[in-house]
Formats: sequence, C-alpha cells, structure tokens
Amino acid sequence: MALSLVERLLGLLYAAVIDALLWLFCALSPRGPESNKRLPPVRDPLLLESATQLAQKIRRREVSSVEVVQAYIDRIQEVNPLINAMVQDRFSSALQEASQVDKLIEEESGGEEVLEDRLPLLGVPLSVKESFAVQGMAQTGGSVSKKGRVATVDAPVVALLKRAGAIPLGVTNVPELCMWIESHNHLYGMTKNPYGQDRIAGGSSGGEGSILGGACSVVGVGSDIGGSIRLPSFFCGIFGHKPTPGIVPNENQLPPTSGRQGELLSTGPMCRYAEDLLPMLKIMAGANVDKLSLNKKVDLKKLRFFTLPSCGDALFTNSVSEDLKQAQRKVVERLETDLGVKVEEVHFPELKHSYDMWFVCMGLPDHDGNLPTSFSTLLGEPGPPVWPLWELLKAVVGKSNHTMASILFGLLSKLMNPPLSALKIKEKLQQDFEELLGTDGVLLYPTFPRVAPKHHHALFKIYDLIYTAILNVLGLPVTQCPLGLNQDGLPLGVQVVAGKLQDHLTIATAQYLEKAFGGWRDPGAN
Ligand SMILES: *[C@@H]1O[C@H](CO)[C@@H](O)[C@H](O)[C@H]1NC(C)=O
Repeated sequence: MALSLVERLLGLLYAAVIDALLWLFCALSPRGPESNKRLPPVRDPLLLESATQLAQKIRRREVSSVEVVQAYIDRIQEVNPLINAMVQDRFSSALQEASQVDKLIEEESGGEEVLEDRLPLLGVPLSVKESFAVQGMAQTGGSVSKKGRVATVDAPVVALLKRAGAIPLGVTNVPELCMWIESHNHLYGMTKNPYGQDRIAGGSSGGEGSILGGACSVVGVGSDIGGSIRLPSFFCGIFGHKPTPGIVPNENQLPPTSGRQGELLSTGPMCRYAEDLLPMLKIMAGANVDKLSLNKKVDLKKLRFFTLPSCGDALFTNSVSEDLKQAQRKVVERLETDLGVKVEEVHFPELKHSYDMWFVCMGLPDHDGNLPTSFSTLLGEPGPPVWPLWELLKAVVGKSNHTMASILFGLLSKLMNPPLSALKIKEKLQQDFEELLGTDGVLLYPTFPRVAPKHHHALFKIYDLIYTAILNVLGLPVTQCPLGLNQDGLPLGVQVVAGKLQDHLTIATAQYLEKAFGGWRDPGAN
C-alpha cells in the first residue's frame, strides 16, 4: 500500500519546514556542556552487585540494608550533579526504612527462606520514574503547570515493589508529560547520558536510564507506550523489559491514558543486571503473574531465532548505522556458534508503515466511543488547552513553559491524519508475527537506528522511534539488551522480541547475551 504522491510531497514539505525550524532552534538554544566530564568510576563493590545478590546478602546479614542504601546515596550525591537524573530524593526516609529492615531481619526467626518468599527485595534500594505516584514525592510529569503536585498514595506497581521490601531512594526525570525521547523539561531541566553528557539519556524513562547507567541505582521502574523503557535503556547501556501489556498495573502515572492507549502501554523493570529482570517482573506483575510462565526453565537451544535488520525504507527515518548492524550480526554469530541454532533473517515490508500504525492506535476511541484526550489539553491542564503554534512562537524567543519537543508533538497530533488503512496493515502484521514467533520464537530487531544522539538532535528524523513503537502496536514482550560500547564509548544494543505472554523467552535470551557480551559497563572505567 503506497502513500499517495500528494501525501509524500506534503510529508517532504512538512519535514523541510520542521528541519528549518529545528535548525533555528538548535542555533538559538543554549549549548549543552562544553566538555564531557567522565563519571567517577564505581569504587564501592556493593554497587556492582545485582539486586538479587544484594537481597540475599541482606537476608543473610552479610551486609546491612543501611550500608547498601548509604552506598547508593553516596554515589547519587557524587554523580547526579553531572547527569541530572534524580529530580527529588527521599534519602533520610530511605535510611530510616533501611534501619527498620535491619532490625526486622535481626528479629526474624523464620529463617532466610521465609524472608525470601515473603519479601524478595527486602532492604534493596529502588528508583522510580517521576510520572509514577510515590507517596510524598512530586508527581508532575515534568510539567511546569503541574508544579507542586505531590502524590498522596503509591501507584499500584510501586506499592507491589514496596510490599516486596524495596526502598525507593527518589524519583527520576522525564520529558514534558513523558511524550518524547529526550528527558528535558522546564521544571527539572535536562538529563544527560552517563556515557557522554552531550548525549541524550532517552525518554520517557530517561532519568531511570541515566541513574541506572551511572550506577546510582540497581533496579528501577519505567513505562513504555512507544519505546519509553527500551530507548533510555539502549542509550544508557542497561536492560529494560517491556512486558506483554495487561500484566503489570499501569495505574496512577502521568499522563493518564485515554481512548485505547492503555493497550499500548506497559510498565516494566529497568536494571543493570539481567538476573534482576525475572524477580522484578514477578513482583511487578502482582496478581497477574500466573498469566506468564516465568518459572518455566528455558532451553535456548530449543528456540527458533530470527533477525530483522531494519524496518525497510520508511520515510523520515535514519537507516541503521554500521556499528549497530555489526553488533546485531555479532549476536547472530554468537547464537549460531554457542547454541548451534540457525538464525533466520526475515523482512516485513509492512514495517515501513509503523508510524502510521502507532499513530492510528494512539488516537483510537475507547469502547464507548470516547476519543483520547488531546496532547494540547494534557499540556495545559489544569488550565485550558495550549495552542501549539502560539507556544512555538513563544519558544523561539525562549518564553514558553513547554519544550520544543512537546510543542512539535502537539502540532503534529493536530496536523497528522494517518490513514485508517493502517489498521488493516496492523492486522496482517500481527498475524505474520504470531505465526513467526509462536511460543518458541525469538526475534532480534534494532532498538533505534543510531547510538545516543546529541541533545536536541533526536528532534531531527523524529520517526526513528518506529523501531520500538511498532512493538507496542503489536503488543509483544521485548527486552532491550546492551551489547557493549562503540568506538566512541557509547552503548550498543538490540531488542529481543517474543510472542505474546512469552516474556520468559526474551529474559532468558537477555541473560545469555549478558554473558556473551558483558552486559552493563561502568561508564567511569577506561
Ligand atoms: C509559566 O508557568 C507559570 C506557572 O504556572 C506561570 O506563572 C507563567 O505565567 C507561565 N509562563 C508563560 C510564558 O506562559
């Protein structure tokens, strides 16, 4: 199904106008940091243990929860000024809670197994994306008009993690209302990439990506409606899992979804160590955990592997860079030599319509016919809807409360009218993927066409996010896995995809890839 000529011309015109505006914007906006200061290397060995190992050591009283929490507080205080990832902390409450944990363990007579069963993350520190409600903490989505909003309860997913014994250390930055892939807003400022402060950390769970990548946290909570867990995890060199939708509770995060957007949104874990993905997901799934097969042992040798090198020649997207293509090829080689499997290359011509499919699904009415709340309305709340064109003019002279990215997104959502025929393409693609993956198929797909771009530059070629967004449309579980660093010291990675409810397959593959490629790297090491 080809785009009509008129649509193509309009598209090109649109792109030319946007590029011109952006050129102006980049020329006018304040420069990022002049020099990239290397992060201090991780010195405290406690910071190099997985949450799973930390929990075990705390239970066995080999280390106290207070020591672990203090080690992370020290690291955050040292590193956060360089990356601006955590926007509000709760250090003194966290230390109090940690000392209560240590007392509880001392008094517990049931033994280690009882604790492990009841409180699997007891005493382990946690970071949370600011858009989630964490009792007593700011919950604004980085929006100036929502400044001062404080959560009075915990979001269900936060409550589940607390109930498992985790201790939140603070909340982390997002793009304005979580609707972009660069975590920058006029309330908290700009989050930087731990591997290069002139680079974006990604979004919308960008503060999580950066705080975890910078070894200032071990496990965190993100959410993903178009790539918001996977992109920051990719740019910041960590693991991020977008679960099958409908498993982990999405409630009480900003902005609330409307229409049928909830079907695209997955809340999930982000972490530095692959071994934490499974226990985190088990806890975060709550009552739905039995819908997944997370206790099933996976024999990778018995799986069918596929590799999909690109989305084809989609409009306004970069082609996948050579370093990322090579990284994905190396994964294929390792899988074939280590496991003796044959990795089959596949192509889906429908993928070049990924953006249309995502945009149509984002705009679908709910089952009662209610259309989703417009982005301009969300941006203005609690005031009246904003006028994107007016804000654009204000932004050019530096007088808007809104970021260029959200203004452009507001404009785009007003102007774009993706063809409903995209839904037909989606159905076909969904069927093809289901047939391909079944219950034992695993697919490799790039997370993004290039490594972390410089600040603001993600605005060019905005459709690059179709690599992640299409997997929200298809409702499949995905784990983004780090694959070491490129020549410039920036993280490489790949998405690992499986069929619906087969989250255990992508996580098992992530654990293998961590062993094969070294997983997360200390950005402060040489
Ligand atoms: C920005 O937001 C603040 C607080 O809501 C408001 O007082 C101010 O007038 C806004 N500025 C602009 C330029 O809209």
